[in-house]
Amino acid sequence: MKLLKDLDLKGKRVLYRVDINSSIMNGKLADDDRIRAILPTVKRILSRGAKQIIFLAHQGRSKERGPDTVLDLHAKHLGELLGKEVLKLDSCRDVKIPEKAQLVMLENVRLDDEASDDSGKREAFARVLAGYGDVYVNDAFAACHRDHASISFLPKLMKEKGAGLLLQREIEALDPLLKGKMKKPFTVIIGGAKIDTKIGLIEQFIDKGARFLLGGGIANTFLAAEGYDVGESLQEKTQYDVARDVAMRLDAESHRLFLPKDVVCADEAGDHVTTMDIPIDDVMGDMKIFDIGERAIQGYVNLIRDSETILWNGPVGLTEYQPFRKGSEAIARAMVKSGATTIVGGGESVALINSMGLSHHQFTHVSTGGGAMLEFLGGKKLPGIMALET
Ligand code: 3PG
Repeated sequence: MKLLKDLDLKGKRVLYRVDINSSIMNGKLADDDRIRAILPTVKRILSRGAKQIIFLAHQGRSKERGPDTVLDLHAKHLGELLGKEVLKLDSCRDVKIPEKAQLVMLENVRLDDEASDDSGKREAFARVLAGYGDVYVNDAFAACHRDHASISFLPKLMKEKGAGLLLQREIEALDPLLKGKMKKPFTVIIGGAKIDTKIGLIEQFIDKGARFLLGGGIANTFLAAEGYDVGESLQEKTQYDVARDVAMRLDAESHRLFLPKDVVCADEAGDHVTTMDIPIDDVMGDMKIFDIGERAIQGYVNLIRDSETILWNGPVGLTEYQPFRKGSEAIARAMVKSGATTIVGGGESVALINSMGLSHHQFTHVSTGGGAMLEFLGGKKLPGIMALET
């Protein structure tokens, strides 16, 4: 796969696929992490003498044009960060791109069949996009798991293509984990709701000696599969067999699976609810678990302190509510202090560290990918990366 440094950019029109998909709240971008993450590549492309950068990006999943699916806010903010105008066009098809504009952002590619089920349509759309540029650069790591026109079809049509600095950084940070080249002890912290989105990552690291600290709905499922009553907490009853199999393999030769033995419960989620920190044995009836408890926090923090490499995906509590942030905040702080190689991914974990005022520089790597990071670490070949290699 070619990197930016290998590409001849002088005088070229660069089709630059980025992932600046961001939450929009009250008409504003909720955060600009993904926009800031592409700035080094944009500057490098320009300093290498490119004539024009044409940004290709998506926003949300809907195909309906509306305030939450257009890229106007993104283009404006990118322009402000760069101190240059970013000309935003209202479509991807049938557009006349003014030659003189150095930075041009096309409209959300998903509004133009980017994600169609019909591969003929995706290829046809990719041909339209290919007509706008000479070189293709992909920095959209967070979307590389999608077999979409601008991700996996377009690069196949381009002679000159390669990875941007962000995609390169993501691969360089995550690849050593895949190859088992991380320093040990290696700790994987997993929260969130669904086992099937994380099972690839779990499988990947079971045989690489990782120890797993679980929280969130996933931990509830593991606890329930072991026979604990988790009341009416979020869990997946259909995944008990998967959980039992993982637990058995992790504890076969050594104790490498850690589940919270005390938990924070409340009748309902909310910012002003009464909470109880109780042993897992005491959960019953209609109780609901929303965070790991104090003893579990202490245990997890000790394991983090004793780690050389830590990978975290998914909060261990319902962090959108103040009373249930403690476990995840303690994990974030312990990672920062650990001196270990620390890798964080997943939108909710990243949102939490942002809201705590922690800088991304305090971690070894904060991935811009959610689903893409999970698939990459699950060992899947991502279509967007494969297309750069052909
Ligand atoms: C993300 O936010 O994870 C990426 O932008 C990919 O979005 P998608 O899951 O809608 O494809």
